[in-house]
Amino acid sequence: MGQNFKAWDLDEAIGYYEQLRNKPEDIYESERVFFFPLLYKARSVLDVGCAAGGFYNIIRTVNPKIKYTGIDVSEGMVDAAKKVFPGADFRVTSGKKIEFADNSFDLVVSLGVLNHVPDYRSFIKECYRVSKRYCLLDLPRLLPKSYTFNEADSYMVLKDRFHSNKPVEDKETKVPYVLADAAEVFGFLKDDLKPAVVLAKGYFGKCDKSVTMPFDQVCFTVVCIEKGRRKTEIITDLPKEIRWRLKEENIGFTEPFERILK
Ligand SMILES: C[S@@+](CC[C@H](N)C(=O)[O-])C[C@H]1O[C@@H](n2cnc3c(N)ncnc32)[C@H](O)[C@@H]1O
Repeated sequence: MGQNFKAWDLDEAIGYYEQLRNKPEDIYESERVFFFPLLYKARSVLDVGCAAGGFYNIIRTVNPKIKYTGIDVSEGMVDAAKKVFPGADFRVTSGKKIEFADNSFDLVVSLGVLNHVPDYRSFIKECYRVSKRYCLLDLPRLLPKSYTFNEADSYMVLKDRFHSNKPVEDKETKVPYVLADAAEVFGFLKDDLKPAVVLAKGYFGKCDKSVTMPFDQVCFTVVCIEKGRRKTEIITDLPKEIRWRLKEENIGFTEPFERILK
C-alpha cells in the first residue's frame, strides 16, 4: 500500500478540509495547548500536510504577522487551498524530502499526517531539519507495548471517512494507519533528534469507524519539540499506561508540564 498519496485527492476529502479545520475553534484541546502559544513565538511557519489550507486562516487569525507556507502531497488539496486563499503560499511536495533548506522556519507544524506515514522517523527528521526552533507534531498512534506495524492489519479507508459514494474501490482510497510502541517513538525522539525539550500531551481514545486496526483504543499524542544544545528533557501529560511503558524502557521524563512554553 505504501503511502498512497493519490487517495487524498478524493473530492469529499478535499471538500471536508475546505469546510472544516479552518477556524481556531476547530483545533482540538490536545493541539491548542501548544499551537496557539507557539504562534506568538514564531515569525514563520511551515504547515506540512496543509490539505485545503485551513491552518492558514487559523494562523493569521491568531497572529496576522506570521509568514505562512503550506505543503501537501495532494495536488487536489493544494489546488483547493490556492482557490480558497489566493494570496497564500501553498506548494505540492514529494512527501519524502521537504524541499527547503535546514533551519528555514521558526515553527514546523504537521497535524493529522504522521499517523498515515509508515516511515515516521524519516518524516519527523525532515520536519526537524527545516525547523529553526519548534516542531509541533501529532505522532503515530501510540501503544503501551512492543509492536511491529503491519499495513495489512491497520489502515483507514478515506472513502468511508469522508462518506463518499463514488464508484471507486476501497483499496484506491486506503491509507496506512500507523501504530507504534510509545517507548520506540520517544526513544527515537530523544536519541536520534537530540532536541532540548519534548513536551507531550496524549489521551486514549477509539478510532473513527473508517479505521481497521487490531486494538480497541490507542493513545492520540501531540508533541512540541524544541531544538537546542541542552540534554533532552521530556515533559509529559500522558496516560499512566504510556508512562509505565516509558519507565519500563528507561526513558526518563518528568510530569506534568505546567511550566510549558513560558
Ligand atoms: C488528515 S489530513 C490533515 C490536514 C490538516 N493538517 C489538519 O490537521 O486538519 C492529512 C493531509 O496530509 C497530506 N499528506 C499525507 N502524507 C503526506 C506527506 N508525506 N507529506 C505531506 N503531506 C502529506 C494529505 O494529502 C492530507 O491533505
